[in-house]
Amino acid sequence: MAEEIFDVVDENGQPTGETVTRSQAHAEGIRHRTAHIWVVRENGDKTEVLLQKRAMNKDSFPGRYDTSSAGHIQAGDEPLESAVRELSEELGIQADPDDLKFAGTFPIQYEKEFHGKPFKDNEIAFVYVYDEEVEIDNLTIQKEELDSVEWFDLEEVYQACQPPRDEKFCVPIGGLEIVRKYVKADEGDFFMKTLIIYYSHEGNTDFVAKKIADKIGADTLRLVPVKKYPEKGFAKFFWGGKSAVMAETPDLEPYSIDLASYEQIVFGFPVWASNITPPLRTFIKENPGIKEKRIAAFACQSGAGAEKAFGKLKESIGIDSLAATLILIDPKDKPSDDNDKKIEDFCKEIF
Ligand SMILES: Cc1cc2nc3c(=O)[nH]c(=O)nc-3n(C[C@H](O)[C@H](O)[C@H](O)COP(=O)(O)O)c2cc1C
Repeated sequence: MAEEIFDVVDENGQPTGETVTRSQAHAEGIRHRTAHIWVVRENGDKTEVLLQKRAMNKDSFPGRYDTSSAGHIQAGDEPLESAVRELSEELGIQADPDDLKFAGTFPIQYEKEFHGKPFKDNEIAFVYVYDEEVEIDNLTIQKEELDSVEWFDLEEVYQACQPPRDEKFCVPIGGLEIVRKYVKADEGDFFMKTLIIYYSHEGNTDFVAKKIADKIGADTLRLVPVKKYPEKGFAKFFWGGKSAVMAETPDLEPYSIDLASYEQIVFGFPVWASNITPPLRTFIKENPGIKEKRIAAFACQSGAGAEKAFGKLKESIGIDSLAATLILIDPKDKPSDDNDKKIEDFCKEIF
């Protein structure tokens, strides 16, 4: 059988005019295109995704759950026609091209060794969502490629794929993120692109930031000071408290974000000496333009001081009000239904 040939593509997935064989692309990490199709359905208030269990004889990720259907785009083919073909070949679904909704692209890059040879993947994946009715029992599955298919709750898969990833799944996180955003937008939710910027010393703020991000599909940026604050005992409170009271601006580990692409910023911090944590001050100083955005904030504390700290936050940004606020008492260490409800309400306010 003649070897498959792919179009070489640029970082946006546009063909450069050159082609490459499958083996050369994977030996040298030459960028090419793939089509990823996500079969989804509504089940009550949840969205479910159909995942394929990869055949045990596959070189990569045997026996693990992957995107509903995916395959390489052959040279000269369009992503949509490849998506239609893959669905038909792998799952026996004869889709009308109009029913495959383009949801976005994302890059996949990794290096592995298969059978003693280096394997360098460098793909731009074109993601399509298919939400027509699908009955598992009526599918004709390509047994060489996959073992079976199964419906999963999209949010549970998304959680399971966060580090440390549950080995049961090998779905690419980039694809999951695109599908989640597509589903939210399709539900008609008003979607305000949000970035959660936070510092967390002992994990409580981190715990809340991730919960909010998952609920509303926001991105996160965790601020990390170059010089770490002490972790224990008197030194922790003394040096942390002093730094907060003195309104220090410690150097941060490098971060990279495109602030222009966000309409809303949510700041999260632990209350320190009734103040905001110093890493936030550094960020605000380095990015004065954020005052033009819609700004909300949440604070974690063990007793009191959050209201005062919100005042300090407004002062350091140079704004009069916050769009929404949330105060929680050590939420990771003391989880409760009340905390969950407060987080839920806050998400409604900022979404
Ligand atoms: C230096 C320091 C100062 C603190 N000051 C306060 C305070 O003024 N009021 C309060 O209620 N909690 C205070 N705390 C407790 C933290 O705000 C609280 O435990 C928070 O949930 C920790 O969040 P994190 O796990 O994200 O770091 C302080 C903690 C530290 C380390």
